[in-house]
Amino acid sequence: MAQIAKGLEGVVVSDTALSHIDGERGRLIYSGYDIADLAHGATFEEVAHLLWLGHLPDEAELAELKAKLAGFRELPAAVVDTIRALPKTAEPMDVVRTGVSALGAAQRFSGPASVEHAMVLTASMPSIVAAFDRLRRGLEPVAPRSDLNHAGNYLYLLSGEVPSEQRTRALDTYLTLTADHGLNASTFTARVIASTLSDMGSAVVGAIGALKGPLHGGAPALVLDMLRSIGKPENAEAWLTAALDRGERLMGFGHRVYKAEDPRARVLRSLAERTSEIDFFKLAVRVEDLALKMLHERKPDRKLYTNVEFYSAAVMHGVGLPDDLFTPTFAVSRVTGWTAHVIEQLKDNRLIRPASEYVGPVGLTFVPLERRSTRAPA
Ligand SMILES: CC(C)(COP(=O)(O)OP(=O)(O)OC[C@H]1O[C@@H](n2cnc3c(N)ncnc32)[C@H](O)[C@@H]1OP(=O)(O)O)[C@@H](O)C(=O)NCCC(=O)NCCS
Repeated sequence: MAQIAKGLEGVVVSDTALSHIDGERGRLIYSGYDIADLAHGATFEEVAHLLWLGHLPDEAELAELKAKLAGFRELPAAVVDTIRALPKTAEPMDVVRTGVSALGAAQRFSGPASVEHAMVLTASMPSIVAAFDRLRRGLEPVAPRSDLNHAGNYLYLLSGEVPSEQRTRALDTYLTLTADHGLNASTFTARVIASTLSDMGSAVVGAIGALKGPLHGGAPALVLDMLRSIGKPENAEAWLTAALDRGERLMGFGHRVYKAEDPRARVLRSLAERTSEIDFFKLAVRVEDLALKMLHERKPDRKLYTNVEFYSAAVMHGVGLPDDLFTPTFAVSRVTGWTAHVIEQLKDNRLIRPASEYVGPVGLTFVPLERRSTRAPA
């Protein structure tokens, strides 16, 4: 019998020059640069340039990339009409997936995957999320602002007001930290789709579907649910004990690859300290401390640490995003990595087609329909 790598854990299916996770030491690099250095010193647009074009831009290259992104922000009318036709109560991730699909139909990402396709998809994502958010609140979408950066324009599209420098910078840092992360489930999905020589829009639609699940990108709103349900630091111990006794997973902890603290969580913690209300931050810190202690006591061999989602929730809450836009905002960021991986996959493509071990029956006798009955005799 073949060895089955359930969940493909530890299986290497491609090489990449985009990002590297050292799970044992808790390090993440994008194309050679430590994530902490990029989070502190670079903007989201610089990181997008790094991922798509392989190097950090000089000033002229950055200006060119920013101008192009700004030029692609306006959605085709057919995409806005599609979003308008959806129920106001739709799940935002379903709307993002549908919006990107409509963009693909309206615009056609035909021909070889290109950096321009990547830019169109990345520039459109905030417009799709914000158009839906405004429409469901009975407001018309506003026109994008070419004088704002990616993060600032996203916040502007949501509220119709130019955001503060502090909120823009906080969101920009979040977008930088989460732009790429090795061969996670959604990125792998994008590469599988690209490997069939489908188009970049389809790869992103598939990736959005994978990101939606709570074991991947769907966790941050659940972190906030947990923190709200705990309510105050004094309740944390009893609440966490009861949840673990029921066999539940604590949202925002544990990772398939990191067996040390996720370096993004470290940066996000200090960002959360600056963006969240003080009581909320104190609650989050107390819950984190207790959860880590309890997880280490209960599962000493598992090396469970805080993951990116825990403080992402606090940061996104702090910049004023509604809970159900947390995962769509993760997509606003991660589309950069998905599209970079599609470009990389196609540079040296081989159809991704794993195998499965058949465990069903063999040698059954075929019975024609008219003589077939699966019901037991009365
Ligand atoms: C992210 C995650 C899916 C990784 O899971 P994984 O690599 O498949 O690890 P496993 O599911 O095999 O878990 C290993 C063990 O740790 C436990 N564990 C993992 N994460 C846990 C958590 N957050 N809370 C409690 N226990 C956890 C599992 O119950 C399992 O214990 P067991 O072997 O005694 O049954 C998992 O840690 C999780 O569900 N976390 C909560 C959701 C979350 O924060 N998602 C965002 C990810 S960035």
